[in-house]
Amino acid sequence: MLEKIHTIQKEMEAFVIANADSLEKFKLEFASRKGKVASLFDDLKTVHNDLKRSMGQELNTLKQFAQSKIDEALVSLENETTVSPTAHNIDLSLPVPAGQLGARHPLSMVRERMIEIFSRLGFNLGEGPEIEDDWHNFTALNFPENHPAREMQDTFFVERNPDVALRTHTSSIQIRIMESQQPPIKALAPGRVFRNEAISARAHCVFHQLEGFYIDENVSFLDLKQALYHFVKEMFGQDIQIRFRPSFFPFTEPSAEIDISCLICKGSGCNVCKQSGWVEIGGAGMIDPEVLKNCNIDAEKYSGYAFGMGIERIAMLKYQIKDLRLFTENDVRFLKQFSNLG
Ligand code: DAH
Repeated sequence: MLEKIHTIQKEMEAFVIANADSLEKFKLEFASRKGKVASLFDDLKTVHNDLKRSMGQELNTLKQFAQSKIDEALVSLENETTVSPTAHNIDLSLPVPAGQLGARHPLSMVRERMIEIFSRLGFNLGEGPEIEDDWHNFTALNFPENHPAREMQDTFFVERNPDVALRTHTSSIQIRIMESQQPPIKALAPGRVFRNEAISARAHCVFHQLEGFYIDENVSFLDLKQALYHFVKEMFGQDIQIRFRPSFFPFTEPSAEIDISCLICKGSGCNVCKQSGWVEIGGAGMIDPEVLKNCNIDAEKYSGYAFGMGIERIAMLKYQIKDLRLFTENDVRFLKQFSNLG
């Protein structure tokens, strides 16, 4: 009996289970109800009572060995089928299904296009803080204290300290750059600005501007017009018309508002242009000599122009977006429409 047990043990050890078929064969030969182990249990009945106990233990060990060999085989066969692509006929050369790619935000696209156009005219990028002091946002820009011109821009002050505010325009960056450089300066400053205004389709308390200015000897209004003509044609196409309307800003003299012909009705009059045929895209002018003096720039020797434009406004005109709130709602149905536009 013991000999038989050892022989079967050796047979089992030698049995190679390489696949599901051979596993079945192994089970049938050794572990089934009519298999070799079961028949040994039958033989146990004929064994002398004194030996029954020890033989029984031997047989149980043999049975456990068979089971452990089956368990191991199951695990390794399982691993094989999950890692082996051929077992499932997976074609690894197929392209991966395209995942959902995010799209660039229309404001980023427009801002970068604006920067690209002006960079080619030699403008360099500058920046300044969103939390500003009174000097950079107002005083140095020639807004006298308590002057009604400050009311043009409803300001968010920080912690009731009237000296600290969220910048109301990117013109504050002009001052920061002029304080740290001497002419010639040709700078561009994009940024987020804040105004205490109720949110509607046409107004928001947070929006973006692009500021630009050029200071050198003999810079004239003609240079300003040339730069802006170039910009609008590059941005909106050669057919676009541009006009300068006299206006007032404390930091420029003379000052102008920049209008372009309405892209929607091509000048014949519609709701977007309020039937005028023209829409405003920003302000501009010759930098007031007082501003240059505030920044220690020789106003006798140098002159400069400046302009500031709303990036949302340009994007709305370019893509015919009628509601400013769409830019901040993060509705993917809106945002994904810009994924293929350049
Ligand atoms: N800072 C002005 C505003 O926010 C826009 C502006 C007007 C900027 C004239 C300029 C400028 O640089 O010359 O409304």
